[in-house]
Amino acid sequence: MSASLPYVLILYYSRSGATRAMAERLAAGVESRPGIEARLRTVPPVSPTCEAVDPEIPEQGAIYADLDDLRHCAGLALGSPTRFGNMAAPLKHYLDTTSELWLGGALVDKPATAFTSTSSLHGGQETTLISMLLPLLHHGMVYAGLPYSETALMETQGGGTPYGASHLAGKRSDRPLDDAERRLAHAQGRRLAHLALTLARPQGDAR
Ligand SMILES: Cc1cc2nc3c(=O)[nH]c(=O)nc-3n(C[C@H](O)[C@H](O)[C@H](O)COP(=O)(O)O)c2cc1C
Repeated sequence: MSASLPYVLILYYSRSGATRAMAERLAAGVESRPGIEARLRTVPPVSPTCEAVDPEIPEQGAIYADLDDLRHCAGLALGSPTRFGNMAAPLKHYLDTTSELWLGGALVDKPATAFTSTSSLHGGQETTLISMLLPLLHHGMVYAGLPYSETALMETQGGGTPYGASHLAGKRSDRPLDDAERRLAHAQGRRLAHLALTLARPQGDAR
């Protein structure tokens, strides 16, 4: 990875791998645009047992995000499994540590999007995407979903919404991304990369 290129942060939580597969597809979409990179990061699980401590490096998937990953991104894609129609607690927990960035306006005017995975088709994909939109708006980010010019939105028999990409992972969380879901996740990453380059702040504009 080059230090000089801007990057889109793809920040996700995934317990059984479905949201991670989506994140990787968005990353491919981001990197299909020249001049920008994808940075994949995850967050640790949380536990009601306060003494629980996680290893500093996850056993699989992306490494954990720190605040600087978020501070310096040119765009942000947030991914979470649906949990009771809402984003998963580990992602919310991470977002609740970002008030320093909110106070400094670090994310103002940067583009953002969201993606999710569910076990059931009508199990709350849209509500989860909207639950992720709320903190992004508080940070002053510019939310971009998926336009219907992406024809897979009309054709999909699984996931895919105008609020963002989604995936029907099935009861055992083992249904792979189907063709429409793959196309939409890729298009979402590509669009976010395009917007990040378009909205990029000039050098020295700390805002
Ligand atoms: C606590 C909990 C709540 C869940 N709530 C929902 C839900 O509201 N709707 C749904 O369709 N699936 C729900 N699921 C299933 C997950 O959203 C689904 O398995 C998802 O694909 C997992 O993503 P992952 O493989 O990235 O962890 C829930 C799972 C857990 C553990």
